[in-house]
Amino acid sequence: MIIDDIISIEMCLIKERGNNMKNGYFIVFEGGEGSGKSTILQKIYNWMLEEKKPCIITREPGGIKISEQIREVILDPSNTEMDGRTEALLYAAARRQHLVQKVIPALKEDKIVLCDRFIDSSLAYQGFARGIGIKEIYKINEFAIGKYMPNISILFEIDPKIGLDRINKNKSREVNRIDLEKIDFHNKVREGYNEVFETSKGKMIKIDASKTIEQVYEEVKKIIMLHID
Ligand code: TMP
Repeated sequence: MIIDDIISIEMCLIKERGNNMKNGYFIVFEGGEGSGKSTILQKIYNWMLEEKKPCIITREPGGIKISEQIREVILDPSNTEMDGRTEALLYAAARRQHLVQKVIPALKEDKIVLCDRFIDSSLAYQGFARGIGIKEIYKINEFAIGKYMPNISILFEIDPKIGLDRINKNKSREVNRIDLEKIDFHNKVREGYNEVFETSKGKMIKIDASKTIEQVYEEVKKIIMLHID
């Protein structure tokens, strides 16, 4: 990546990230396949309910009817002919609708929004791993989300080999079109996340997701407590 690109991505991300939410708190979980983020997210949600914190749990792509329908199209394993830019636009479209219909209303009600994936997924998967360019993908997402960047984004870092192995052992989980990509693609996703991490200046927090569920859960809980209490 050329220096100009890095500087402008950095400026975009710093300018927008988390400076804009008067109400609520927007927390996003990010990571490659099998990183355990969805399991931990559910545990964090249960903990917040016990603590009587006003919060919602949701996911991307999906979270509401229209975006779940878009998810079906994007992740259908038989859609092998899907173009990379089409994929990126569909993720951005699903994101827009989910944001407008579910995330923004919850933030306006002062709720904590716990979201499985957001813009950083598109930067890592479509921008970096698909080779479209992080800057290009940032631009279409800027159109989709405007000022709404997460307050924090927690990156579950794991070797893709370990992550994919976990998925193969967990037979109840859906296997989607992206899971079927070769290991090289998943290694690039990891690299892409690290690029995004480097430019996020503290708004993205990286954790070692190869630890046990309990260890990761405790770590994530501590991070969240530091931010919302
Ligand atoms: P999930 O398995 O975490 O539910 O996510 C669905 C898949 O979609 C996963 O392989 C990551 C991928 N994805 C992208 O490629 N770009 C995106 O912007 C998002 C939100 C997900």
